[in-house]
Amino acid sequence: MLTLVLADSELELVPPSIAGHPAIRTSARKRGRSPTSILLDSSLHHPALKGVPEGERRGRPDLVHGFVLICLDSIVNQEGRLTTIVHTRHDDVLRFAPQTRIPRNYTRFVGLIEELFAKGRVPDDDPLITLERGVDLKAVLASYEGRSWAFAEGGAATDLRTAIPRLKGELTAVIGGFPHGTFRSPVADLCDRVVSLHANPLKAWTVAAEVLVAYRLFAKPPSPTKA
Ligand SMILES: C[S@@+](CC[C@H](N)C(=O)[O-])C[C@H]1O[C@@H](n2cnc3c(N)ncnc32)[C@H](O)[C@@H]1O
Repeated sequence: MLTLVLADSELELVPPSIAGHPAIRTSARKRGRSPTSILLDSSLHHPALKGVPEGERRGRPDLVHGFVLICLDSIVNQEGRLTTIVHTRHDDVLRFAPQTRIPRNYTRFVGLIEELFAKGRVPDDDPLITLERGVDLKAVLASYEGRSWAFAEGGAATDLRTAIPRLKGELTAVIGGFPHGTFRSPVADLCDRVVSLHANPLKAWTVAAEVLVAYRLFAKPPSPTKA
């Protein structure tokens, strides 16, 4: 099994401290919503982000959208060999059932995630996406067996075509869900390895796609269990 974790993602509701900012009030009013019930989005709320710590990297639901589309549409997921998780800067953890159909349309995706933040699960009956609060990356990783690799520009140069066949069991791949900077979580301590795929900086969804395809092509099938 492969688990992909988008870690320290910049996905959050508008913080109360900037709820009164004109940029936030305008976008909430246009949607007929209260300011703190909408997702923080740097493309709409850029002026307000100057007033929060690390505002230059926050408010990126688009990164999460791209990541979950790549994961849930992948062949590895269709074969039932993928777990898709999004962990956020506030230690919220979103778990996606493999059969979840994510809206291609970004506006509809934002509405779905806002509903998830309001209700904790969507849809109401037989939920496909769940939200758990206060779960740090260490606790997320503790749920999974096998090796855990964090992916980062500054990691050890690694060719997945040779590294993945050497895996003995499961793999948890941790990819950053932020536009720039480094992980906020201590991934070098939490993961077995920190690996780089290329000398150039890559987008989170590009790294996810590389891992998904390499895992499909090069992971050894699990050995049959003894009766
Ligand atoms: C837009 S990048 C964040 C940039 C940041 N400079 C970094 O890599 O630490 C989003 C994520 O993609 C992954 N990533 C980016 N470039 C990578 C590379 N060359 N090799 C492996 N992973 C990479 C990392 O997980 C990173 O957190």
